[in-house]
Amino acid sequence: MVTGQPVCDVSGTIAEMARSGIREIMDAAWQIPDAIVLAVGDPNFPTPPHVVDAADAAARAGKTGYVSNAGITELREALADKIRSRNGYDVTANDVVVTNGGVEGIFAALATVLDPGDGILLPDPGWPNFAMDAIMLRARILAYPLAAENGFLPVIADHERLCDAGTKAVLLNSPSNPLGAVIDRARMREIAAFAASRNLWVISDECYDATVFDDRFVSAAAAGDPERTISIYTFSKTYAMTGWRVGYVAAPPRAIAQIAKLQEPLISCVNVPAQHAALAALTGPQDVVAQMVSAYQERRDEVCRRLAAANVPALPPSGGFYVWADVRASGLSSRDFAFTLLRERGVAVAPGTAFGPNGEGFVRISLATEPAALYEGIDRLITALA
Ligand SMILES: Cc1ncc(COP(=O)(O)O)c(C=O)c1O
Repeated sequence: MVTGQPVCDVSGTIAEMARSGIREIMDAAWQIPDAIVLAVGDPNFPTPPHVVDAADAAARAGKTGYVSNAGITELREALADKIRSRNGYDVTANDVVVTNGGVEGIFAALATVLDPGDGILLPDPGWPNFAMDAIMLRARILAYPLAAENGFLPVIADHERLCDAGTKAVLLNSPSNPLGAVIDRARMREIAAFAASRNLWVISDECYDATVFDDRFVSAAAAGDPERTISIYTFSKTYAMTGWRVGYVAAPPRAIAQIAKLQEPLISCVNVPAQHAALAALTGPQDVVAQMVSAYQERRDEVCRRLAAANVPALPPSGGFYVWADVRASGLSSRDFAFTLLRERGVAVAPGTAFGPNGEGFVRISLATEPAALYEGIDRLITALA
């Protein structure tokens, strides 16, 4: 290196962006042998064998080159069928783009609607990637609270209060990570009316649309206006396929065209054998999905039973696979509680503040963990609180 010369610097925006607090506790957990890890939403089920076989067959058949930015046609057609039947609104294959997981779909959706300085309403607590995306895009985050007294649902008065003339979008996440709350049809309609009145996009992260424990779930585009709604989905959670990295976005023509275009500089296209695996997941037997959902429901009931018996407040989730537990009785901040629990009792949970300032006093417990370890982890958490 030549000394005495100025050193070129990295982007201030990216350097100042905080790391995901979930990753921070995960890194600490990986240093502790035998730690019980309840900090991450990674299903403990294997990808169904027929799905793995389909990727293998595709790769062996030479389906290993670049494909269309938007994804292979067979998959997009199957996804349009799925959205019509499961999510209840009308789309064709042309309205769907296959993405590198929901993660990339959310970024592409936000990049499509936001210019630097535009406002976006984001949930607090909310999944950290939402804010990280907004920061990368130099957008303004308008954090709307999700409070226990409102069933952890968005309240229109908060949207009204926070929304300014430069606001472009409201982001919804139902079922919610980390809260497990599901926005019902009436509230979804109110949000749609608010979005229409302020001419906002509705960006709806519905990545947990299959993991629901009652009939409350409704897609934003079905309850509201599909012309102003961009919806994001994934294979990760539904089919235990987190590492395959296949998600998808449905949007009206003026937005989906931009999202398809963005695939080129972002990822070019999704891994092609993985797209064939996703097609097999969608068109093959669906009993695997029902089995996983019922396993999560059983775990949810048992975890909530144990917490309630120990007087630890927690709202049983209506969907997703997380329990949001109140640990204020510890007298510690949620971050200190989580790191102390890991250090002293070998259990990793995600601190509530990883999801925003309103997560203070709470931790997120993932149900996507093998039951014996999950229940042992809960018992240790209860002992730590006592
Ligand atoms: C709320 C939410 N949205 C989207 C995703 C995206 O997951 P993937 O990129 O694996 O599809 C996740 C993953 O944890 C999530 O929790």
